[in-house]
Amino acid sequence: MSTHIARGRIPVTAVETHYPTGADVPYLVEARHVKKYFPIQKGLLNRVVGHVRAVDDVSFGIRPGETFGLVGESGCGKSTLARVILRLQGASGGEVFYEGRDVLKMSGSEVRRLRREMQIIFQDPFGSLNPRFLVRDIIAEPLRVHERMSAKERDERVVELMRLVGLDASRRNRYPHEFSGGQRQRVGIARAIALSPKFVVADEAVSALDVSVQSQVLNLLMKLQRDLGLTYLFIAHGLNVVRHISNRVGVMYLGKMVEVAETDELFRQPLHPYTAALLSAIPRPELNRKRERIVLAGDVPSPANPPSGCRFHTRCPFAQARCREEEPGLREMGSGRVVACHTPLQ
Ligand SMILES: Nc1ncnc2c1ncn2[C@@H]1O[C@H](COP(=O)(O)OP(=O)(O)OP(=O)(O)O)[C@@H](O)[C@H]1O
Ligand code: SF4
Ligand SMILES: [Mg+2]
Repeated sequence: MSTHIARGRIPVTAVETHYPTGADVPYLVEARHVKKYFPIQKGLLNRVVGHVRAVDDVSFGIRPGETFGLVGESGCGKSTLARVILRLQGASGGEVFYEGRDVLKMSGSEVRRLRREMQIIFQDPFGSLNPRFLVRDIIAEPLRVHERMSAKERDERVVELMRLVGLDASRRNRYPHEFSGGQRQRVGIARAIALSPKFVVADEAVSALDVSVQSQVLNLLMKLQRDLGLTYLFIAHGLNVVRHISNRVGVMYLGKMVEVAETDELFRQPLHPYTAALLSAIPRPELNRKRERIVLAGDVPSPANPPSGCRFHTRCPFAQARCREEEPGLREMGSGRVVACHTPLQ
């Protein structure tokens, strides 16, 4: 399906599937109460002495054709959440729906089919591309695994894909090290779209690139989204990178989703103190002084032993006694905004 979907407008009619799950919003991808705990083992017998609660009861949905930005400090669980959604990793609990089907319950053959529809672009173009393979073979690999094609057809598809991502196809018989960082990321993108997926996770896809190259790659991702009708989960540490590409943004802190909002709304008026603190790190003259003073102090606590109550209370300038004891649930704030705070900012 090729659709032209403008940023900021999300046509729900783009979904053709029915959602037997009872979800009232027709999400393409939906996580419900997803948990991923990693056991901490000690001693000769590898006794389990605790768990890293990397993702701890996260629910959110991604609409077809939109870019959902996912932000939060290092270690808050962004990549783990994405890997669970793609079923590259099992979950400790919860459900993940893709077009209404529970990804976590799929059989081996269903997962194989899912691999065509969901793809990932990684942060480090060097690390994720095999340096001993020609660029041609790197891009063609998913085609070799999933498509029955002759060598000639595969080569034609590689040429087409390289053109789509703005690479000179005559360089397909070269190695990744002969390409610049931005070009290598384009190779990673060409490989990710080779099977015409519907859903693409970009995990820190531009974080390692220079700012000018970053914006070129972001523009490419947006163009491909328009031309191919892609839906993105776009992961980054900071809000400034997600701002220009995302329709909506989810903010994670220590394994929890603490706020979800339309991008413009989130930047205009963050409701969670942590979101406000992330925004304070970006120089923004339009913000009032009170909000600019929210600066994050201290280190992120360990997800193996998260603080009681609200996990942000050890760093929150607005924390009260209640915050130490009672965990705030996600609250609907109107027009699809949700926030997990006892006293959201006004
Ligand atoms: N395979 C694993 N085994 C044990 N712990 C893990 C594993 N993978 C991730 N973790 C832990 O889970 C937590 C979340 O990690 P994750 O990589 O998802 O964070 P992130 O938000 O993507 O961070 P970054 O921005 O640095 O990429 C971290 O504490 C990490 O150490
Ligand atoms: S619940 Fe309390 S500690 Fe948590 S973000 Fe809100 S005010 Fe801060
Ligand atoms: Mg990560």
